[in-house]
Amino acid sequence: MSVAGFIEQRRSIRAFRPDPVERPVLDDLVEAACLAPAPHHSRPWRFVVIDTADAKQALADGMGEQWRTDLAGDAVDAARIDELVHASHAKLTTAPALVLGCLTWDGLDRYPDEARRRAEWGMALLSLGAAVENLMLAAADAGLASCWVAAPIFCPEAARDSLELPAEWLPHALVLVGYPDPAYVARERPPIPLDELRFHR
Ligand SMILES: Cc1cc2nc3c(=O)[nH]c(=O)nc-3n(C[C@H](O)[C@H](O)[C@H](O)COP(=O)(O)O)c2cc1C
Repeated sequence: MSVAGFIEQRRSIRAFRPDPVERPVLDDLVEAACLAPAPHHSRPWRFVVIDTADAKQALADGMGEQWRTDLAGDAVDAARIDELVHASHAKLTTAPALVLGCLTWDGLDRYPDEARRRAEWGMALLSLGAAVENLMLAAADAGLASCWVAAPIFCPEAARDSLELPAEWLPHALVLVGYPDPAYVARERPPIPLDELRFHR
């Protein structure tokens, strides 16, 4: 299959068979992630492979507590908070494996002013996005299902502390990985309205 066809075929798959994913297979995915382009030939990412029940639980609990606080601050009804946090918890703890993408300042340029610090961090974030796409494409190539989950970008410190990661690692992306549940049907993908998204000058 062409690369373009393969890219088109990758889908977010949110349901998995319960089978574990072997660690060498997960390592291959992380290696593919680390082939992503990054500023200044840096590798400002750290990937944490989470495939033990205790670690999944710790991460789900840590992020869940923060989400509870945020939702309460938004005046969301207590029953709805329980429902949302419980669903998120179940999503994380039932996935066979999670890969948590963290950003660090390792290899990045340091600036004295906030504007350039933010731009430099933004570059690192872009490269983490490229790395995650690599990881998901490699997963698809290995017959694995994956789905990117936004949660840690809203609570990087809670995610970091729940797994006792080094202080300078800031979790920003989480990918669920497993063998696909054959019954799962990917959401319909709307056609790409190129005329609205692409411009010429
Ligand atoms: C940064 C980012 C965050 C996402 N967060 C979530 C999420 O929290 N939960 C979820 O089910 N899907 C999440 N997704 C997956 C998107 O919903 C999905 O990529 C989009 O609907 C397009 O579908 P496709 O990946 O099958 O092409 C996220 C995707 C990205 C890029």
